[in-house]
Amino acid sequence: MMSNIYKETFDVEGQVVIVTGGAGLLGEQYVHALSQAGACAVIVDINKTKAEEIAHAVCGEEVLVMKADVTDPDDVARVVEVTMDHYGRIDGLVNNAGLDPKFDPDHVSGHINAFETFPVDRWDEAIDVNLKGMFLCARAVGFPMLEAGKGSIVNVSSIYGLVGPDQRLYEEKDPTELRSFKPVTYSVSKAAILGFTRYLATYWAHQGIRVNTLTLGGVYQGHVDPFLSRYIWRTPLGRMAQRDEYNGALLFLLSEASSYMTGSNLVLDGGWTAW
Ligand SMILES: NC(=O)c1ccc[n+]([C@@H]2O[C@H](COP(=O)([O-])OP(=O)(O)OC[C@H]3O[C@@H](n4cnc5c(N)ncnc54)[C@H](O)[C@@H]3O)[C@@H](O)[C@H]2O)c1
Repeated sequence: MMSNIYKETFDVEGQVVIVTGGAGLLGEQYVHALSQAGACAVIVDINKTKAEEIAHAVCGEEVLVMKADVTDPDDVARVVEVTMDHYGRIDGLVNNAGLDPKFDPDHVSGHINAFETFPVDRWDEAIDVNLKGMFLCARAVGFPMLEAGKGSIVNVSSIYGLVGPDQRLYEEKDPTELRSFKPVTYSVSKAAILGFTRYLATYWAHQGIRVNTLTLGGVYQGHVDPFLSRYIWRTPLGRMAQRDEYNGALLFLLSEASSYMTGSNLVLDGGWTAW
């Protein structure tokens, strides 16, 4: 008997959930997890080819693919319109699309991501995707969620939204002998997400829409030493996350199991921020 109650509590079957950046490393995992749990995932990404590959690989539940740029209000409005036409409801939004620029040897004009010379256009681009995109998507799903009187929005942040980057991790020199840094835009945008979540959670608290932050630590994707060793040494659990280790937390935040949780921050970081 008890197990049935808990099964219902964590149930997301039949829910319609938009996943921005759904074609990325973690977005793909979320789409698979949602589909396995019986939810209908809507992949929103600028990478249509990858999004279609993921949708094709998902067996069972239906997956909708939408090529859209989260920084474009018209694209975002179209995502909501098409989703509503297709399913007639939107239960969840996973604000997951983000820019975490990697080293690009073609655009090096000094130490990589050095604050002193950080380009204004790179600042604008990252803040646009990581913050404006989140704002536009939440604003757009607000209409159907307010009408339904329910919804769950999950804003994805990072350990670097809570603490400053440990720049010692990135000390490895690239082939051009330039020093590499985690960019300022990542910290600024990921920290701002916490404020955005608290604002929206309290703003919509009485209309049935819950808004929470999901804060994540680094995911292993073939990293090599010395970065990997330094990351492991710096992490209490002694390893990076596996790419599917955040799925359970996501389903929790989207389901009734988290019904009393809003404006909060769920941290999965292997203990990174505990010391
Ligand atoms: N991977 C990690 O170790 C890690 C750790 C902490 C937090 N995060 C956060 O998790 C989220 C996903 O990370 P990831 O590793 O899967 O990244 P990723 O780069 O693999 O995926 C991001 C996806 O967003 C899409 N995207 C980029 N700009 C877009 C735009 N303007 N409109 C629509 N889609 C756009 C990309 O095409 C890509 O598919 C990010 O917010 C990231 O900051 C990741």
